[in-house]
Amino acid sequence: MALTPTLERFFAPVKERLKQMRDLGDFVTVRVFSTSAFLASVYYCFFSRKFRREHRAVLLGRAEYARSLRATGENRALLRRNIHRLEKGLVMRPRRPVFAQDYILETVKCFVNARRNSDIYCDEVKWAADVLTEYFKVVATTDLIAQAKALFDTAVAQPTTDRFTPYPFADLPAVPFSYAELHTLFKRRRSVRWYLNTPVEETKLNQAIESASLAPSACNRQPYRFHVINDPKKAEDVANCAMGTIGFASNLPCVIAVVGDLSAYPAERDRHIIYIDGSMATMQLMLSLVTLGLASCPINWPDIESREKLLASKLGLAYHERVIMLVAVGYADPEGGVPYSQKKSYSDLVVDSREKVE
Ligand SMILES: Cc1cc2nc3c(=O)[nH]c(=O)nc-3n(C[C@H](O)[C@H](O)[C@H](O)COP(=O)(O)O)c2cc1C
Repeated sequence: MALTPTLERFFAPVKERLKQMRDLGDFVTVRVFSTSAFLASVYYCFFSRKFRREHRAVLLGRAEYARSLRATGENRALLRRNIHRLEKGLVMRPRRPVFAQDYILETVKCFVNARRNSDIYCDEVKWAADVLTEYFKVVATTDLIAQAKALFDTAVAQPTTDRFTPYPFADLPAVPFSYAELHTLFKRRRSVRWYLNTPVEETKLNQAIESASLAPSACNRQPYRFHVINDPKKAEDVANCAMGTIGFASNLPCVIAVVGDLSAYPAERDRHIIYIDGSMATMQLMLSLVTLGLASCPINWPDIESREKLLASKLGLAYHERVIMLVAVGYADPEGGVPYSQKKSYSDLVVDSREKVE
């Protein structure tokens, strides 16, 4: 029931007082329950449900990781991680005569099973085959390594001339632009909220996503996917699921949902990696878009149950898939305003910690 302006004025101090009391109550509760890890767990078990989805998603991710290994003997995240570890072993200085003993059999078994599905991700399987071939070429033999090699030999793909194996740093392409030019690109990337009514070409999105895939990721697992909603009506629908798009959701030609997959990890300790890897790739995506004449705006994804459910149902996400952020994409309206967004200074950001480190 709406109050009259007179009643509004009368009740305003009462409302303010109640808010102050609630804030004080929250403050005291939070202070008390933050005094130990145990009390913090009690708080989030009995007084707040705000971590429930995350807890369940982490467990379901672990369950899915184990299920895929048990069901098919195959797990892309495990294969990618272990092949990455082998590559690190191959480039180690000095290289040890025997390495990777504790995981080579598991890796070869995983590879053999992955080959059955190799049409879906053939480059990944080729990378694994090439690195394993190189590994068995240089490693000294032990019983276990011989067993792994025998299994590998039953499944190895035809050798190819272009090898997906470690190479010298000097083989990398030279940087064809200067620091100043790169700095200009960084300056040119701004969060843009006002776009022209021009469709975004799929080819450009694909190019930007390909560049995003070159970003570093922990153990090269790349545990994220880009859900592309390149349709203004549907983009608005998805953008409205977030909180930070009020006033401009209806102006977005395209929205990309960056989604992390917790089934890439067998243990809780790695639960944050999806956010780190996903964000690094998204930064490259946004910079690439600038070079293609496009603009973008990252959009915060809040961990709020009702919104999580809504977007998960729209995008068909599994529970262990977690939205990292949304990104609006389009051709910037040249007349649209861009916030100045003053950046922190060098002295504000740098902490010289040499003295602190023992
Ligand atoms: C993780 C993340 C979430 C963001 N969420 C929103 C958002 O919900 N709505 C919005 O208008 N801008 C959002 N932004 C854009 C920031 O406001 C913007 O990056 C910041 O003000 C600096 O401006 P700049 O990107 O132009 O340098 C977000 C940025 C990041 C990195």
